[in-house]
Amino acid sequence: MESAVIKKKVILDVDTGIDDALGVILAIKSGQCELIGITTVNGNVSLGKATENTCKILDFLQAGATIPVICGASRPLLRPLFFEHRIHGEDGLGGALRDAKVLTQPRDGFAPDFICEQVLARPGEVTLVMTGPLTNLALAVKKCPELVKHVKEVIFMGGVVNGHGNVTPVAEYNMYVDPEAAKVVFHAGFPQLTLVGLDVTRRVLLTEEHIDELGDTPIGRYVRQSTSDYMDRSLERNGVRACAMHDPLAVAVALDRSLVKTQRLYVDMETRSELCDGQTVCDFQNRLKKEPNMNVCLDVDTEAFFTLFLGALKA
Ligand code: BDR
Ligand code: CA
Repeated sequence: MESAVIKKKVILDVDTGIDDALGVILAIKSGQCELIGITTVNGNVSLGKATENTCKILDFLQAGATIPVICGASRPLLRPLFFEHRIHGEDGLGGALRDAKVLTQPRDGFAPDFICEQVLARPGEVTLVMTGPLTNLALAVKKCPELVKHVKEVIFMGGVVNGHGNVTPVAEYNMYVDPEAAKVVFHAGFPQLTLVGLDVTRRVLLTEEHIDELGDTPIGRYVRQSTSDYMDRSLERNGVRACAMHDPLAVAVALDRSLVKTQRLYVDMETRSELCDGQTVCDFQNRLKKEPNMNVCLDVDTEAFFTLFLGALKA
């Protein structure tokens, strides 16, 4: 008798940008999860643009009919908008799919409500993968605190615990944009909350050689075009022509936990400092005498990540 493979049920929350789009592509092309919805949030680009980009990616993969897209927060909880056009280009996808006609349309509804409904309808089964500012999840927790005990796990791309930030000297972008939302999520009491920060995402660098492996295919051409300007800027700034796979790594961790080594630690969010807002403060020596509140990724198997990522995109 054939045994049915039970796939992990995932909601992806994105501010589609270049690497968010690659995370969506990985989730879909891997065939390893049941994507029950994609929720969008303001971040790299406006909410409208992030939603349009997400729909374009679903069109590109011919997946728009089966995966609902639901719009979420159009601004951070308290702070002004802070886009990342210098990284992701004016359109958010580095110019790729610029002229594509958008066929997929977002469904009615509001992302935080969708997250609550879906999680409560499938208690203990849903994994949330967050690759933008945490505004939607913070709103969901505030509206429906019992959500916390019914989510299977939350994996978020954000922060850095052992290095420098990428917006300010100490703050990573997703945390910097909405630190109040991050603070709500950090203290909500999620039993399984995993921080995939710059400590590990900076070590998964997509290069021209990786893209060559995808060949002259629609996906290969898309990835090349989408990441080209990003790679040029990385060469200027870091001396390496590459594109950091921040968001795809968060998706990959949902698919295969063994890609990263984690440690349970207490991490808090700075929200009241002129210099350090958005900093993920990690209490490695338990000086604050608090119970650990998350799994912090401290090491990554880069080769295994690219085997998974490129294998999925080639499929
Ligand atoms: C994060 O910020 C955004 O620019 C990327 O999409 C990623 O989610 C990296 O700091
Ligand atoms: Ca993102």
